Amino acid sequence: MLVVGSNGQLGSDCMSVLGKAGAVLGTDVPEIDISDNLKTMEVLNRLRPEVIVNCAAYTAVDACESDPGCWKINADGPGFLAQWALENGAFLVHVSTDYVFDGEKSLYSAYTETDEPSPVSEYGKSKLAGEQAILESGAEAAILRTAWLYGANGKNFLKTMLRMALQNQEREIRVVNDQFGSPTWSHTLARQIAAVVGSRATGLFHATSEGYCSWYDLADSFLKQMGVPFQMAPCTSTEYPTPARRPQNSILENARLKKAELNIFSDWREEMERFVAACGESVLQEQGTKN
Ligand SMILES: NC(=O)c1ccc[n+]([C@@H]2O[C@H](COP(=O)([O-])OP(=O)(O)OC[C@H]3O[C@@H](n4cnc5c(N)ncnc54)[C@H](OP(=O)(O)O)[C@@H]3O)[C@@H](O)[C@H]2O)c1
Repeated sequence: MLVVGSNGQLGSDCMSVLGKAGAVLGTDVPEIDISDNLKTMEVLNRLRPEVIVNCAAYTAVDACESDPGCWKINADGPGFLAQWALENGAFLVHVSTDYVFDGEKSLYSAYTETDEPSPVSEYGKSKLAGEQAILESGAEAAILRTAWLYGANGKNFLKTMLRMALQNQEREIRVVNDQFGSPTWSHTLARQIAAVVGSRATGLFHATSEGYCSWYDLADSFLKQMGVPFQMAPCTSTEYPTPARRPQNSILENARLKKAELNIFSDWREEMERFVAACGESVLQEQGTKN
């Protein structure tokens, strides 16, 4: 098995979770560049994996708006991996995003796999093109759409909130309270990927924690669980403009995982409690060493 993007937030959890079940190799930049077909083929031909788990992506949502390079990584890259998987009989697991939806579905109903995607950002559009390249390739593949990922490794929203709370204890943190999604711990997603690999289930799957909240609810719940003092106030998306538009409602329902009896996710609050219990201390220390 080969994890592509193995140094990233999800990739590093996949390395530890999938590694418990068998031999797993990891690759990331600079060894591989999935936007470069020749370099990708060279790595795959050398390692000849039976299963490829692609966690590599251009994940800087706002930077995607002005960097066409994101299309090479998010759209072309998955297509190259799928072509190799097809020609070599490998199983491909690919990770996509809730941002393939426009968020116009009525609050608070969740999107299922049969809802029509209609992305409103370059990131969402490029990730949707990656999904389509895989589905059209004919490779044996599973695509897992996840959302609002956080984990012990790499950058994420929760770490940003923690850093702001620790650095600006006198200042109020303003957090968007009118976008709703399903926060998901990358470690649980890695366990979900292991279950999908074990079953060889194919097609499109939504793969997020159960339930939903706003970014404000998420930050508030996390900082309280961390026991860090903070002052926070809700704001609207209009009051916090960003280069990329985000969907107001990107709540996902894991309908196909449930139908296949593969869904392992529980409520996002329980998942976060487990995350804080397992990783809270190391995340706190990491912020401390950055000050
Ligand atoms: N983070 C979220 O909130 C979120 C939400 C929904 C869906 N997702 C999806 O979940 C997946 C995992 O996200 P994540 O949070 O783990 O992302 P991440 O921490 O940014 O990890 C992505 C990894 O891909 C690597 N990479 C970038 N360009 C590459 C290239 N051309 N070739 C090979 N590797 C490359 C990155 O290396 P460098 O760091 O050196 O660039 C990094 O190690 C992605 O598909 C993402 O679209 C994420």
